[in-house]
Amino acid sequence: MSERPSIQFPDDFLWGAATASYQIEGAVKEGGRGPSVWDDFSHTPGKVDHGHTGDIACDHYHRVEADVALMAELGLQSYRFSISWSRILPDGRGKVNAEGLAWYSRLVDLLLANDIVPCPTLFHWDLPSALEASGGFRNRDTASWFADYAALMTRELGDRVSMWSTFNEPWCYAYLGHASGVHAPGLQDDRAAVTVAHHELLAHGLGVQAMRAERNDLQLGIVINPSPVKSEGSPSASTDSMRRVDAIHNRWWFDGALKGAYPADLLDDLGPLAEAIQPGDNEQIAQPIDWIGINYYFDLLLRGTTGPDDRPNRNYPTVTNVTDSPIRPTHTDMGWPITPDGFTELLVRLKDDYPNLPPVYVTENGCAYDDPVINGRCADPRRIQYLDAHLRAVRDAIDEGVDVRGFYQWSLLDNFEWALGYDKRFGIVHVDFDTMERTPRDSAHWYREVIKANGLTG
Ligand code: FCB
Repeated sequence: MSERPSIQFPDDFLWGAATASYQIEGAVKEGGRGPSVWDDFSHTPGKVDHGHTGDIACDHYHRVEADVALMAELGLQSYRFSISWSRILPDGRGKVNAEGLAWYSRLVDLLLANDIVPCPTLFHWDLPSALEASGGFRNRDTASWFADYAALMTRELGDRVSMWSTFNEPWCYAYLGHASGVHAPGLQDDRAAVTVAHHELLAHGLGVQAMRAERNDLQLGIVINPSPVKSEGSPSASTDSMRRVDAIHNRWWFDGALKGAYPADLLDDLGPLAEAIQPGDNEQIAQPIDWIGINYYFDLLLRGTTGPDDRPNRNYPTVTNVTDSPIRPTHTDMGWPITPDGFTELLVRLKDDYPNLPPVYVTENGCAYDDPVINGRCADPRRIQYLDAHLRAVRDAIDEGVDVRGFYQWSLLDNFEWALGYDKRFGIVHVDFDTMERTPRDSAHWYREVIKANGLTG
C-alpha cells in the first residue's frame, strides 16, 4: 500500500465509528429495559449461530465510561450509536423508563465532554416485543408510536444532540425480518415484508415531522444500505430480475424518501403485496431531510439459477431464479465480496438520480476478520486494506461531485453480529468476550492517524 498516493478529505469531514444498541449494550434485564424482538429471536433455538444472544454482548451498558474514553483515545470526532426503544419505553409506548433516558443522557454528556459529536439512530431493529405483539411494523399504528418515541427523545436530548437518524437499514428489517426471516422477528411472508417496508418509511416521515415540531434546529436523516446490482458468474441473472432487485433494494427507499413516490415498475411487480400504501402517505414520507446515511459493504453480485419455481433468494419478493451466493474467491469472513469500485459508482449514481440528494454521510463501512490478539497486539492488515480501499472510493466519489461529509467505520467494537452471533468480528477494537477486555487492533491505530491527517498518507 505504501506506493499508493496520499489523499485528503475536505475540511470539516467528520470521522467516526458506529455501533448499535442490541449489538453492544447487554444488560437486557437491567435498568428497567423491556424486551425486544431480538431478545425473543436470539432466545429461540436455531435462530442465531451457536445460540448466541445479546444478553451480555460487550457489556457496554456497564462500561460506557471506559468505552467513551477509548473513543477519545482513538481520536474519534463522532460516535454513531442507536437507542434501544424498549429501554426508553419498555412497552413501546405509554410508560417512560426514566432510568433508560438517564443512561443515554449520560452517554451523550460523556461524548460531549470528550468533544465527540453524538449521532443517535432511533431504530436499529430492536423493536419492543410489546409492539411486535400488536403486529410490529405490520401494524400501521406502529408508525405513530415511533413518532411519539422520536418526539420524546428530542425533548430529552435535543438540547445536546443535533444529528439524528430515524431508521437504520429499513430494507434489512423489512425483508431479512419478514421475507427470508433470517432476522427478527423471523417471519416468511412477502406481504408482511412489503407492508413493513412501507410502514418504516411512513414512521420515518412521521418521526421527522414530530421531531421538527419539538425543535427547529435539528439535523435529521435516515440511513439506507443501497448496493449496485450486478450479474456475475453463470448463468447470468436476467435483466428483469436485476431490475426488480434494484427496485426493492435501492429505488424503493430513495424514491420514497426523496421523490415522494415509489417506483412505478415496482408497484406493478408487487401488485397486491403493496396494499398497505394509502392515499396521502407519499407526502407524509417525503419530508425534507438534512442528510442521508449510506451503509456500504459490498455490491450485490447476482447469478441466475435454473428450475421453474426456483426462488433461492427469498429476500426479494417476485424475484425468481436468482441467487447472491458468493462466487468470488476474495471475500471477508462474512462471505461478502470486496468491491470498493462499486462504492464510488453507487454514490455517483445517487447524486445523478436524485437531484435533491442531501449531504451524504457514510454511516457504516467495514469488514469482519477474526485476527487474534497475540501478546497484546492484534494485527489486522486485511481490515486496514479494506478501509483504505473504501476510503479511496469515497474520495473518488467526492471528486466526481458527491457531497460526502463524513465516514463512520463499522464497528468500534467486535459485537453481536445478529444471526451470526459473536464469531464475525467487525471491530477496530478486539473484544475478549470472556473477560470483556478491549484491545485496539492495528486498524484502530491506523484509523487514528487517518483522522489526524484527515486523509490517507500513502
Ligand atoms: C449492517 C448493520 C449493522 C452490522 C453490519 C455488519 O447491515 O446495520 O448492524 O450488523 O451490517
